[in-house]
Amino acid sequence: AGIDLLALESLALDVARTCARLIVDERPRDLGVAATKSSRTDVVTIMDRRSEDLARELLGRARPDDGFHGEESSRVATTSGITWVVDPIDGTVNYLYDIPAYAVSVAAVVGDPAVPGAWAPVAAAVVDAARGDAYVARRGGGARLLRTDPRRPEAGHEEQPLACAATDDLGGALCGTGFGYDADVRAEQGRVVAGVLPQVRDVRRGGSAALDLCWVAEGRLDVYYEQGLHEWDLAGAWLVVTEAGGQVLGLRGSAPADPFTVAGPPALTGMLVPVLEGLVAPS
Ligand code: IPD
Repeated sequence: AGIDLLALESLALDVARTCARLIVDERPRDLGVAATKSSRTDVVTIMDRRSEDLARELLGRARPDDGFHGEESSRVATTSGITWVVDPIDGTVNYLYDIPAYAVSVAAVVGDPAVPGAWAPVAAAVVDAARGDAYVARRGGGARLLRTDPRRPEAGHEEQPLACAATDDLGGALCGTGFGYDADVRAEQGRVVAGVLPQVRDVRRGGSAALDLCWVAEGRLDVYYEQGLHEWDLAGAWLVVTEAGGQVLGLRGSAPADPFTVAGPPALTGMLVPVLEGLVAPS
């Protein structure tokens, strides 16, 4: 009671859009891949930090009693019960290579986002920074895509309700996935994807888990799974998927991101979960 979810959703959208503009407008022009091989982490980290600092400042000004939990490890404790979980650039490798698939994710959550299974998103925005599209959702209020025509930004945006794909055919499904940065986990991810690939139409690795999940809500991907997502990758898009009629789960009854995340329409997650459970060694 007492939480104005619409106000949280529109604040999330404002902040995510402002940070998205920052990372696009101030992306260093000389961020050429060859030239930055040795210093790539630094350059990306600087923009990640700037985007996160801006989000923390805007949210703190608007709602000083809320907590903050960002990827770049800035933490503010909550006294209101709401904590903002922010990924300042999701898809940093795409950002580095100028592949236009990176996002800013801003989510209001209840519970403790540092503890898997102990939190849930209540309002969120994920902004596809390069295209300008925004995916927004609030608990019980549905999920929407606000689409801007990049040739006519002054025309505002078109609004479209989001709904996951209706398919229940795993063999015909386009399945998204992602890989973490840890070499041991990657070896396991390679093994698992080799087992999934023959059982689906095809596999995509988009490079921004937040956008991939929003694409599930849009029906551009049918289903998604990843091992080892962080709460900031997941928080905003989790709500977008569930409000679009999808399910977001872990394996063997665990919470999402603990450590597996599977997302899609219930008919497909119901088929993909047992496939993954058969491929992944019990932890
Ligand atoms: C990464 C991306 C990627 C996913 C990784 C994430 P970052 O987030 O979402 O698609 O596969 O697990 O860590 O590092 O670009 O914010």
